[in-house]
Amino acid sequence: MVEEYQSDFLVLGSGIAGLCFALELAPKGRVTLLTKKEDFESNTNYAQGGIACVSSAEDSFESHVQDTLRAGAGLCNEEAVRELVKDGPPLVHQLIDWGVHFTTTSKERTEVSPQDLHLYDLGREGGHSHRRILHAKDLTGAEVERALLDCLRGHPNVTFLEHHTAIDLLVDEDRVCSGAVAMDSFGEEVKIFRAKVTLLATGGLGRIYLHTTNPAIATGDGVAMAWRAGLPVANLEFIQFHPTSFHSPSGDTFLISEAVRGEDAILRRIDGEAFMKGYHELADLAPRDIVARAIDTEMKNHGHPHVYLDCSAMSPEFFAERFPAIQKLCNDHGVYPPHDWIPVVPAAHYSCGGVVSDRNACTAMPGLLVAGEVGHTGIHGANRLASNSLLEALVYSHRAVLSA
Ligand code: FAD
Ligand code: SIN
Repeated sequence: MVEEYQSDFLVLGSGIAGLCFALELAPKGRVTLLTKKEDFESNTNYAQGGIACVSSAEDSFESHVQDTLRAGAGLCNEEAVRELVKDGPPLVHQLIDWGVHFTTTSKERTEVSPQDLHLYDLGREGGHSHRRILHAKDLTGAEVERALLDCLRGHPNVTFLEHHTAIDLLVDEDRVCSGAVAMDSFGEEVKIFRAKVTLLATGGLGRIYLHTTNPAIATGDGVAMAWRAGLPVANLEFIQFHPTSFHSPSGDTFLISEAVRGEDAILRRIDGEAFMKGYHELADLAPRDIVARAIDTEMKNHGHPHVYLDCSAMSPEFFAERFPAIQKLCNDHGVYPPHDWIPVVPAAHYSCGGVVSDRNACTAMPGLLVAGEVGHTGIHGANRLASNSLLEALVYSHRAVLSA
């Protein structure tokens, strides 16, 4: 006998999109959340740079919109971008209300009210013309997962099932989604989960590439399930390569956040030549696709296996305080920034396309909503602006709540 479960809302995935959706809906009905591995395991958990959100007097919505459109190379949906940028600040406030601790500008200010976004330390990354990225040092995603999971654990309306991998969507004869079939990898059994509303929040697909910044869960399951159910997918040709993943001959890699270049680190060839000024007026802070292509070109033209990131513009004290996780990972591999240059190469990082969603997070199938990296909202065009992904997941999980 196949076990059957019934709930009001079924959530597939426990990254920022799935957790925010579950948390907002838990007071309104029974939520079942399935996730492939441990509760925190997700691309979200490894996010370093932070969440882009207009938060200072010098910045403006228009500036964030224009930076997003420019990075997207003419292929963004401008209306969706405008909504994203405007919806961001109140939803970032909500994250703070849920207990996410972003880094503040002064050590004393550990408790800042959500109304005081300007008191947070703002990072800068490629393609941004202002400092506007809220972060928790270089561990932003882990902090977001911690806070959201703390809020959800033990909630009486939430059934949280780890090690349950959704395999296929349940589609009834009227082409309405009525849940999903999943594999319990501990019990080694297939189970049926029925629900009035299902949210697809299964994240990205970096692991289909040999070299990627993504963890093992990111195998594009959501896109595959939706495709098999006959749903449209779009822009999957726009896979973003992050310019700076750690280069190790063993292939053991991890991300070196773009925020490091936001603090004046520069790229150099193995022979020491700084090359980015020859490619773009923003040099090392050009949009991500331009920097990744420039590195690839330099490596190919010179037959080099990697380039270097020179962080020596930062003091050792500043580097240790701002980038503790990156420092530890580099040290574990025998590299000691900011003194040592960090060997880096581009790696598959983010899927700009996915399962087609309208601006209310609805798919073409009644009963099925989509949010986060698995979705295609048209916001990112051909190349996502740094730190707009957590923001999009936040905005679209909220829109999914309203639609649900
Ligand atoms: P995820 O966080 O990936 O969550 C997907 C969830 O679905 C996981 O829990 C997974 O286990 C589960 N899942 C997958 N398949 C199944 C299945 N078949 N059944 C059940 N569960 C399943 N973006 C930014 O904006 N700022 C950053 O600083 C930033 N840094 C990044 C650093 C790294 C190293 C990486 C890899 C990405 C980074 N990104 C960043 C991108 C961003 O983290 C992701 O796009 C975003 O977190 C996606 O959130 P999500 O909720 O859609 O998916
Ligand atoms: C980074 O920290 O460089 C990653 C940011 C992102 O993917 O948006």
